[in-house]
Amino acid sequence: MNKTATLDANPAPISIPDELIDTLRAARSVVFFTGAGASSESGIPTFRDALTGLWERFDAEALATPKAFLNDPALVWGWYEWRRIQVRQAQPHPGHLAMAALEDCLPAVTVITQNVADLHERAGSRRVIHLHGSLFAPRCFDCGHPYRLPPEPLDAAGDGQRLPPPRCPACHGPVRPGVVWFNEPLPDQAWHTALEACRVADLCLVIGTSGLVWPAADLPYQAHRAGARVVQVNPVITRYPNLPTLDLQGQAGRVLPAILERFRAAEAD
Ligand code: OAD
Repeated sequence: MNKTATLDANPAPISIPDELIDTLRAARSVVFFTGAGASSESGIPTFRDALTGLWERFDAEALATPKAFLNDPALVWGWYEWRRIQVRQAQPHPGHLAMAALEDCLPAVTVITQNVADLHERAGSRRVIHLHGSLFAPRCFDCGHPYRLPPEPLDAAGDGQRLPPPRCPACHGPVRPGVVWFNEPLPDQAWHTALEACRVADLCLVIGTSGLVWPAADLPYQAHRAGARVVQVNPVITRYPNLPTLDLQGQAGRVLPAILERFRAAEAD
């Protein structure tokens, strides 16, 4: 057994501050704001983690812009189908389940996610806002008509394998992934619903995001300005200039179940 395995087998206990549990118990409205790190323990890669991050291994300019799709639709569609296969094979981890369980205990919980997977929904979260769209909601590039995907990808799209996109049944245009690309605005309704949730939140937990992509990264500021306590859950705490945060350093899959456990114990007292 190597040293890493030894450390993993005996992880340090997670310390959850009383302040967080008190705020959680008093909260009328809570936001979980999640990024790619919230799914990494399900085996979905993040974007910017060294070596494993998608944007460390693939060229975002060639895959995640409207121009890239027009240049090479098969390359882009194949890459997103590969990611859809990864997501379909992944399962929610204890962190996702803890968020969903807290939703059952608290008056109002909103999950605002930058992730394009459906792991929050599969964990049982009911109010999920997808700021950056979804791998499961493709639409026509030309006319915007939604396209109904077969549940299983048609071809075994490999890592970087080209796959021509299907054609729109309405106008025969190419079908594009339903995700937000660079140089595109966020979906209007998702953004405004997210803003509203942050403005009424008493507590905003920011989980597994580097906070580098705007306007999503403004949401913790919006919550703070409206009076919410902002809590970070991340093995590498993000530096948000001029934003006071309560920092819980650790993986989502360990920290969130520890919060749930402390919350339940406090409620039972
Ligand atoms: P990043 O890859 O930029 O950041 C991932 C964050 O997750 C880092 O802060 C890691 O330290 C943290 N992390 C890694 N493992 C974790 C774990 N087990 N538990 C908790 N945190 C962990 O991903 P995002 O911030 O989500 O946009 O990236 C934002 C946006 O950039 C994405 O939505 C995507 C991308 O380009 C679009 O596709 C529009």
